[in-house]
Amino acid sequence: MAKNIYIGEILKNEGIRENYFLMKVKLPESFDDPKPGQFVMIRIAGLSEPFLGRPISIYSFRRSKSSAEIELLYRIVGKGTQILAGLIAGSQLEIHGPLGGAYAVFPEKENIVFIAGGIGVAPLSLLAQYLCKSVCIEPSRMSFYLGAQTAKEIVGLEKLSSLCYNMQICTDDGSKGRKLFVTQAFAEDIKKYDPVNTAVYACGPKGMLKALAGIIGKSEFHCQVSLEERMACGTGACMGCAVAIKDKSGDVAYRRICSDGPVFNLEEVIWE
Ligand SMILES: Cc1cc2nc3c(=O)[nH]c(=O)nc-3n(C[C@H](O)[C@H](O)[C@H](O)COP(=O)(O)OP(=O)(O)OC[C@H]3O[C@@H](n4cnc5c(N)ncnc54)[C@H](O)[C@@H]3O)c2cc1C
Ligand code: FES
Repeated sequence: MAKNIYIGEILKNEGIRENYFLMKVKLPESFDDPKPGQFVMIRIAGLSEPFLGRPISIYSFRRSKSSAEIELLYRIVGKGTQILAGLIAGSQLEIHGPLGGAYAVFPEKENIVFIAGGIGVAPLSLLAQYLCKSVCIEPSRMSFYLGAQTAKEIVGLEKLSSLCYNMQICTDDGSKGRKLFVTQAFAEDIKKYDPVNTAVYACGPKGMLKALAGIIGKSEFHCQVSLEERMACGTGACMGCAVAIKDKSGDVAYRRICSDGPVFNLEEVIWE
């Protein structure tokens, strides 16, 4: 089997909300420790349809003496995720990863701000866990803005509440937390954060990230975003996931989300 491709065994695959699932997968000891922001490509072992793997962020990771365990938080949107949701404990998956680059961390920054829309909470949760446990950032320095369309789509809150003291919940319809977009909640609080001393991390729908780009503009906030695009190979070979960015000289260049990303500096992304 090619490098980085493993057969994993599903230990748990539970519906946590309508259309949202949490899956725990046991992998061989040789699975590398994932860095926050990385993802895996998943295929169902022995099944040729869907043919292409589906990228899912690593939500949490644990290593024991003889195996590794990853958790994946996912939303059913189409055929692949629908099939995943129907799998029971004991089923096997082909897991390729960890893939992609990680969020850069800045322990010296006074404030860490996370902005997540919907399922974008998954990679940011792993980052918050990493900053808390491996970099020893106190929860009082971490603020998490978590937004979704309705209360039903707010997931992952329990894990985050113990990691970040300042949890700001927003829903579009006001069914949980404040009734406004998560980016607006951050915009209302922006004066609380010294731009030079704050690292901002975001993941969510393109519209949310574009709105954030408008709010942060040319300020001195350092902001990294994790982008999502449909993927084919997942390893940089097909250019199927290319996005336009501004390179260092300001010219338009194309980067692959799977291998050059999925994490990019907000200022380099072209949102049109
Ligand atoms: C790096 C990365 C990390 C991701 N992490 C997670 C995660 O942790 N949890 C999670 O639930 N999802 C995550 N996704 C999105 C997930 O990969 C897609 O939802 C999944 O591939 C859809 O497969 P499907 O067969 O169910 O849907 P399909 O039948 O392939 O598509 C159904 C619908 O969803 C749209 N769609 C499919 N993929 C994407 C995408 N990447 N972005 C926007 N729209 C899309 C299609 O255009 C179509 O309208 C991630 C994507 C990327 C690129
Ligand atoms: S999915 Fe093939 S290059 Fe990214």
